[in-house]
Amino acid sequence: MKKIVFLTGAGMSVESGFKTFRGNDGLWENYPVEQVASHEGWEANPTLVNNFYNNLRKKLYAAEPNEGHRLIKDLEKDYDVSVITQNVDNLHEKAGSSKVIHLHGELTKVCSSNAPYDSRYIRELPPEACEVDPGARAGDGSLLRPFIVFFGEAVPMIEPAAGIAAQADFFVIIGTSLNVYPAAGLVQYTRPDIPVYLIDPDDVPSGSLQRVTHIRKGASEGMKDLVKILRTDGRP
Ligand code: APR
Repeated sequence: MKKIVFLTGAGMSVESGFKTFRGNDGLWENYPVEQVASHEGWEANPTLVNNFYNNLRKKLYAAEPNEGHRLIKDLEKDYDVSVITQNVDNLHEKAGSSKVIHLHGELTKVCSSNAPYDSRYIRELPPEACEVDPGARAGDGSLLRPFIVFFGEAVPMIEPAAGIAAQADFFVIIGTSLNVYPAAGLVQYTRPDIPVYLIDPDDVPSGSLQRVTHIRKGASEGMKDLVKILRTDGRP
């Protein structure tokens, strides 16, 4: 089976009701990004940060994957599909995608603030109990924090993601401005001869994307086009 690797960003979830990061005056869901998505912001006011993600988590549990997420999942019938996402939502999983790597964490989960990657303290919050109480503690006694990779922190999942990108027969980028590294550099791990597609209604300025076919549409419409292209150019 040929391997398709998707790299998705905030634009993937726009049609499911979520906002992108850039193009909103530096605000993300009405908050300054530095306040709610940086290590300094967390240190300065963990209660505000926890409340922000509590609200976003509630919104996520009420949201549904869109046609774009579903079309990616459907490709599993004919291809070996991997999704590498910068999004913290679980909409790819909810659509049924079986191989999803989250580069920037997962909103459904909480962890220890001392050792965020210690699996003993990572918990998934179910929809009926999806809010972290102010001051709640992880199993190691540290403050419970959202399982989110904040700006200024390492991105440990980049290594497995780069390994997967290197195996791709097709690489498809959807809804990311490619502003944030190391995610934006993943395309450089792909073999130089494979086709690369970009689905985004806007320009994505990047010097490293010369061999890209730009499908200038939103995620759902763009995925419909991609499925047609694969039918002719990319026999499984
Ligand atoms: N379908 C597809 N793409 C869309 C749509 C849509 N309906 N609407 C907007 N877009 C595109 C925009 O044109 C833009 O190129 O989605 C992209 C979103 O870019 P960003 O807001 O920069 O989001 P992203 O690239 O995912 O951000 C990367 O930055 O703050 C951090 O950690 C956060 O993971 C995030 C990272």
